[in-house]
Amino acid sequence: MKKPRSPKRPRPARPAAPPAGKPWSGRFTEGADPAAERFTASLAFDRRLWPWDLAGSVAWARALARAGVLTAAERDAIVGGLEAVRAELEAGTFPFRPELEDIHMNIERRLHDLVGEVGGKLHTGRSRNDQIALDERLYLRDAVARTGGGLRATQEALVARAAETLDAPLPGYTHLQRAQPIVLAHHLLAYVFMLQRDRERLRDCGRRADVLPLGAGALAGTAFPIDREALARELGFAAASPNSLDAVSDRDYVIEFLAAAAVTGMHLSRLAADLTLWATAEFGFVEFSDAFATGSSLMPQKKNPDVAELIRGKSGRLYGDLVAVLTTMKGLPLAYNSDMQEDKEPWFDSVDTLEAILGVLPPMLRALTFRTDRMRRAAGEHFATATDLADYLVKKGLPFRQAHEVVGRVVRYALDEGKTLEDLGLAELRRFSPLVDGDVKDAITVEASLRARAVTGGTAPEAVRRALALARTLMSAP
Ligand code: ARG
Repeated sequence: MKKPRSPKRPRPARPAAPPAGKPWSGRFTEGADPAAERFTASLAFDRRLWPWDLAGSVAWARALARAGVLTAAERDAIVGGLEAVRAELEAGTFPFRPELEDIHMNIERRLHDLVGEVGGKLHTGRSRNDQIALDERLYLRDAVARTGGGLRATQEALVARAAETLDAPLPGYTHLQRAQPIVLAHHLLAYVFMLQRDRERLRDCGRRADVLPLGAGALAGTAFPIDREALARELGFAAASPNSLDAVSDRDYVIEFLAAAAVTGMHLSRLAADLTLWATAEFGFVEFSDAFATGSSLMPQKKNPDVAELIRGKSGRLYGDLVAVLTTMKGLPLAYNSDMQEDKEPWFDSVDTLEAILGVLPPMLRALTFRTDRMRRAAGEHFATATDLADYLVKKGLPFRQAHEVVGRVVRYALDEGKTLEDLGLAELRRFSPLVDGDVKDAITVEASLRARAVTGGTAPEAVRRALALARTLMSAP
C-alpha cells in the first residue's frame, strides 16, 4: 500500500553553489533539472553560429563605447577577449559547456573567464532575442552566398553540356508520350533557367533580410543611446529595423530561405528524375559514370543511379523543413517565444542538404555520357513529326483543324500497315490529300522539324544558341 503523502514535501536539497552558474542565477533558488537542461539546450546545433555571434558582439561592444556606456579601455578589453575566444573556436580548443544552454551564453561566459569582470558589461542593453535574430541574419548572408554559388556551379555544368549538344536531337515528351523532336541542349537549358529563378529567389530573400535587428533588446528596444544606423553600417546592413517587436519575433527570412530551398529541391528532383528515367535500359539515353553510381549487393549486373535517386528523394526533407518552421511560427503571440528556437534544425538541415546536393550534382553532370545515337533514333520514331506534316498542309492552304484530321488518318493508316511516317511513299500520302507534293519528305524530317521552331524560346538549334548566350549573360550577373 502507498503511504499517504505528507502535505509538506521536503524540498530537494539546494545546490551549494549558484545553480550551474546560469546568468539568471539571482532569481533562482533551485538548479535546473538535468532533463530540463538537456531539453532546452540548443548548443548542439546553434554552435555553428559562433562566427556571426562574435562579429555581432564585437560590433555591439563598439556601439556601447560610442554611446558612452563603455570606456575605450573596457571596449578594448572586451574586443581583445572576443578575439581570444575566436582563436579558441578556430583552433577547436574552445571549452563548450552544454549546461550553458546556447552558443551566446557559452561565448559570453568564456569571455568573462578570459578577461574578468569587464566581460560582464558586454550584454548591457542587449538580449539574446535580438542577438539570435542578428546571428541568423548574418548567417543567412553566408548561406545565400554558398547556396547561390552551388546553384551557379550546377548551371555552369548544364551550360557546358548544352553547348556540346545544340544539334543533338532528342524526343520531347508530353504525358511521357513522345511528342515532338527537340535538341538535348534545349532540355538541359530548361533547368538552367529554373535554377536562375531559384538563385533570384534566394538573392531576394537575402535582400529583404538585410535589416539590423540588434538594438531591439528583449522586445521594446534597448534603453541605452545606441546609434543603430551606425551599427547597421558597421555590420553591413542596409537599415536598422523600424519596429523592435517585429525585429525579435520575425523569422520570415528563415521561411523565405526554406521556401526557395523547397522550390530548388523540386527542380533538382525533376532533373534527377529525368536522368534516372533516361538511364533505364528502356530509354538508354544516358549512362552514369561509375563514379556516380552504385552496384547491387546481390545482382551482379546492376548499376544503380543512387546519387540521382537521392537528389530526387531529398526534396522531401526540404519540403518538410519548410512546413516545420511555418507550423512552428503559426499562432505565436508577439514577441519572442522559445518555440522559435525550433527554427534552426530544419533551416540548417536544408542549408546542409542543398550544399550536399550541389556538391555532387555538377561533377555528376560533367561525367554523364549522353547516348546521342539512341536519342537521335528515338527522336524520329513514333510519328514525332506528325505535327510537321499538318503544318506542311497548313502552309499549302488547309485550315489547321482539317490538316490535323488528315494527318490523324495518315497515322491511323500507317499504324494499321505497320509503317512509320518515313515509310510512306508520296502516292500513299497523296491519297489523304492532294495538297501533298514532292517537297513533303524534306518537310517532315527531324532536322526540318527542329529548324522550323526558330521562334524565341523554340528548339531550333539557332534559337537554342541564342538561349544559351542569354543563359551565360544571366549567370555572369552576381
Ligand atoms: N537559443 C535561443 C533561440 O534560438 C536564443 C534566444 C533565447 N532567448 C530567450 N529569451 N530564451 O531562439
